[in-house]
Amino acid sequence: MNILGIETSCDECSVAVVAEGKTILSNIVASQVERHAPWNGVVPEIASRLHVEWIDEVTSQALKASGLSLETGINGIAVTYRPGLIGSLLVGLSYAKGLAWAADKSWIGVDHIMAHLYAAHLENEIAYPHLGLIVSGGHTILCRVESLDEVSILGATIDDACGEAFDKVAKHYEMGYPGGVKLDALAENGDSGAFNFPQPRLGTRRYDFSYSGLKTAAINQLEKFRTKRTEASSTNIAASFRKAAIDMLISRLKLAAKDTGINRVVFGGGVSANRYLRRVVDEDSSLEGYFPSLDLCVDNGAMIAGLGYHLLLKGKRSPLNLNAQARVSKFKCPYP
Ligand code: KG4
Ligand code: ZN
Repeated sequence: MNILGIETSCDECSVAVVAEGKTILSNIVASQVERHAPWNGVVPEIASRLHVEWIDEVTSQALKASGLSLETGINGIAVTYRPGLIGSLLVGLSYAKGLAWAADKSWIGVDHIMAHLYAAHLENEIAYPHLGLIVSGGHTILCRVESLDEVSILGATIDDACGEAFDKVAKHYEMGYPGGVKLDALAENGDSGAFNFPQPRLGTRRYDFSYSGLKTAAINQLEKFRTKRTEASSTNIAASFRKAAIDMLISRLKLAAKDTGINRVVFGGGVSANRYLRRVVDEDSSLEGYFPSLDLCVDNGAMIAGLGYHLLLKGKRSPLNLNAQARVSKFKCPYP
C-alpha cells in the first residue's frame, strides 16, 4: 500500500510517498525558512499563504520522484490536522480532502506529535511501549507511548520550547533564524563546564521543563561578556547553555525511565539532531535511544505517510468535515 503524506503544520511544506509504512519512495521538504528569517520567527500568515502557493507543486514533485501516479499508484492519503498553526494546517487539510475526493482515495487526518514519534520507526524496529521525547521549536513533550496511536503525556515545557530557547540565544549570537543548529556547532568547541547555569526547580512537576530562565541567564551572560569584557568566552557560554538545556531533557528522561521501568526512548523533532544530546544518549547504557536520521527529525511528509499507513490499515478514516486543531486537549496536558 502506497500512501501520500502531506505536512503543512508550520513552515515546512512537505509531501512524501511511503510504501507499507516503511519504504520512503519520495520525501520533498520545501522549507520556508528564508522567507521567515527577516522576522526572526515564523509569521503565521506568510506560512499559510506560501503553503497555498507551493502545495500543488510539492505534491507533483513527490509523485514524480516516487515514480507513481496518484490515480493508479497511490492507495491512500494522510495529512496532518493537528497541532500547529491553524492557517497552515487548513491549507494541507483542505488540499488533501480535495485530492482524496477528486481521485476517490481513502484518507486520514494524522496527529503531528504522533507522527514525530513514528519517524524513528520508519528506519528501526522499535517495540512498544516506549518513552517518547519530542523536542522542536514548538514542542518539548515527554510521553509514554503505548502504541501507534495511544500516548499519555508525562511532562511538557511550562514556558519556552527547547528549540525556541536555542533559537532565542542564537539570535544574540547573530546566527540568523533558526540558529539552533549553529549554536550546537559553536558549542562543540567550548568548555561546557565554564558556566554553571542552574536547572529550574519545578517542585512536584517532576517531568516538566522550563527554558525561559535558562535562556535569559545565557543571554545575560553573553551580554555581560560583550559589555564588560570579562574572561568568559562566548563559545564557552554556548557550550554551557547547550549542556544545561540538554541535561534538563536527560534528567527528566531518566526519571521517567526509572519510574515506568521503560528504558526504550524514541526521539523526534528538530532538536533531536543535537550532537550533544545524541552523544549523551549513545554513551548512556541505561537508555536505549532511537533517533530518526537528520532529515526525518524535522517536519516531513514521510512520517505522516508512515503513520497514516498503519491507521488506514486498521480501517480508520476521517470524515470530510474533519477540522484543523491548533492545540490538542484530549491529553492530560495540552501541548504548549
Ligand atoms: O521540528 P522542527 O524542524 O520544527 C518545529 O519547530 O516544529 O524543529 C526546528 C527546531 C528549531 O528551533 C531549531 O533551531 C532546532 O529545532 N534545531 C536544533 C538543532 N537542529 C535544529 N536545536 C539544537 N541543536 C540542533 N542541532
Ligand atoms: Zn514538528
